Amino acid sequence: MSVKPILKMGEPSLLQKAKEVKDFGSPELLQLLEDMKDTMAHANGAGLAAPQIGVDLQVVIFGTDQINPRYPDAELVPRTVLINPKLEYLNDSPEGLEMGWEGCLSVPGMRGLVPRYQHLKYSGFDEWGNAFSRQVSGFHARVVQHECDHLWGILYPMRMNDMSQFGFVDVLFPELDPHTDD
Ligand code: NI
Repeated sequence: MSVKPILKMGEPSLLQKAKEVKDFGSPELLQLLEDMKDTMAHANGAGLAAPQIGVDLQVVIFGTDQINPRYPDAELVPRTVLINPKLEYLNDSPEGLEMGWEGCLSVPGMRGLVPRYQHLKYSGFDEWGNAFSRQVSGFHARVVQHECDHLWGILYPMRMNDMSQFGFVDVLFPELDPHTDD
């Protein structure tokens, strides 16, 4: 078990573009993924990006084998390791956007209503360097956009267009479990 501290908004490194992984299958990369999985599970997160634990690499993980109590109404997103991702929006007009509530382990205790593209194709590599791609929609597409944004130095409040829809989770959603609120 290796739970790492999660960097919070205000940390300059969260605003940097992360570097591409070149060394697939290396012990360092596999250890990073173990640390990320332990840290995400400990924090009960929907996803985690390497820069959030201070590692400057294009690595994200997301998804679970069971419904996340932070997002009880969300569809199941399969456990995924995604490295050096590329996103292709299938409808990048304004009509292709949908609003949804997001939280972030780097912005603890807060939620905001964020526009995201509903449909996208993402591609990248697993930890062994095997290429894969998926076409996804809805919550799955939202999670991918949120996590990949961490690799481009973007936090979800920077995507918001209505700051009146940003607040503390215990105020906005008092019915949620207070131990799963960030
Ligand atoms: Ni996040």
